[in-house]
Amino acid sequence: MMKNEKYVLMAFAAIMLFIYPSTAHTRPESQSACITCHEFIGGDLAKPVLNWKGSIHQQNGITCDACHGGNADVKLGNIKQLSQEKFAARQALAMSKANDFIGVPTGKAMFDMCSQCHSESVDRYKNSLMGKAYLNNTGGPSCVACHRAHRNSMPDVPKDCESCHKNTTGFDQIDPMSVSRTTVISLSKIRIKIAEEKAKGKKPPLLAEFPEELGSFQIGFVAFGAVLILFMIGYIVFMILEKRR
Ligand code: HEC
Ligand code: HEC
Ligand code: HEC
Ligand code: HEC
Ligand code: HEC
Repeated sequence: MMKNEKYVLMAFAAIMLFIYPSTAHTRPESQSACITCHEFIGGDLAKPVLNWKGSIHQQNGITCDACHGGNADVKLGNIKQLSQEKFAARQALAMSKANDFIGVPTGKAMFDMCSQCHSESVDRYKNSLMGKAYLNNTGGPSCVACHRAHRNSMPDVPKDCESCHKNTTGFDQIDPMSVSRTTVISLSKIRIKIAEEKAKGKKPPLLAEFPEELGSFQIGFVAFGAVLILFMIGYIVFMILEKRR
């Protein structure tokens, strides 16, 4: 009986531990002016809210203003009854530069946004070939090209790479966050290996029972042996038939 109670208590504690992190640190969503207004407007401006809900950031209490800045505490009152002027004033207040509001971050501003909490990941990517190509504006992917902005996920390799890369062979065997000259070299080695394996797989088997490593000389030798044995069997059969006569 004591034992059972212990288990019930442990299960209860486990459930609480599971629920606690997803609720305790989150600002009540109804109190975020960003969410209230963007949901109210609907359409494309509400999509970030829909995507963010259930995301790893939402689960960890990372609200709109953690990334975009601005003032999420602006009092909106009954948003449906706001006059146009009051609506515009609240919007301007919430999304004001004075409150460090960042709209859609471009260039380095995106790295700065993420590095508040992911400085190690940003440093890793910043020093990679693609990270440099992004910062130099020469076509490298941004953080959200691979991770999405509001429903963060890991990239689908190679599908998410195909918009920029024609040859994605071996992409599943490298780390996209830290592509360097060394990665390019190991990638070409991986590709040679894959090509070799493919070539091997396509070669029609000469004699099914023999290992593929057999050279043509060995195969000829074995074939000659087989013919010799067939000939001997034929000869023995011939001799037996001759004797019966
Ligand atoms: C009272 C309404 C209202 C509030 C409050 C509000 N927004 Fe907005 N937001 C809008 C409207 C309307 C637009 C589109 C018009 C525009 O871009 O100026 C917009 C646009 C944006 C954009 C896109 C900007 C761009 O450059 O394309 C971002 C990002 C954004 N809001 C984030 C936030 C964040 C974060 C908060 C809270 C700190 C917030 N909003 C609070 C109404 C609001
Ligand atoms: C993890 C950081 C992060 C959080 C949290 C976040 N955003 Fe964004 N948001 C971004 C980034 C980055 C972009 C730029 C996307 C791009 O370049 O495609 C963006 C773009 C936007 C845009 C422009 C339209 C679009 O979809 O690209 C709006 C509007 C917006 N965010 C509103 C919000 C609102 C409202 C919230 C809260 C529910 C929110 N964001 C939470 C990072 C974030
Ligand atoms: C205010 C802090 C904060 C900011 C800003 C922020 N994140 Fe996060 N992010 C977190 C937390 C907390 C987690 C969940 C715990 C973890 O895995 O580190 C997380 C998780 C993630 C994950 C999932 C990691 C995993 O291991 O599964 C990705 C991807 C991610 N963030 C990308 C971004 C990108 C891209 C930006 C910038 C546009 C950004 N984050 C901005 C706090 C933040
Ligand atoms: C070309 C695609 C790509 C780009 C661009 C990219 N990432 Fe990643 N990221 C990945 C992949 C794949 C992983 C998982 C494997 C790994 O850990 O390296 C990952 C892992 C992460 C993680 C989990 C922890 C970690 O470091 O492994 C975070 C956080 C993250 N990325 C944030 C970012 C941020 C912030 C940026 C922009 C500065 C960024 N990523 C750019 C593909 C990308
Ligand atoms: C927005 C376009 C874009 C996307 C998306 C993208 N890349 Fe790249 N990638 C580049 C550019 C540009 C370079 C060239 C950087 C340089 O050499 O200066 C590059 C270079 C590379 C290289 C080294 C050169 C090569 O082609 O062998 C590898 C490996 C690579 N990317 C892997 C990936 C992987 C894996 C993904 C998907 C998770 C991906 N990339 C998604 C733009 C992109």
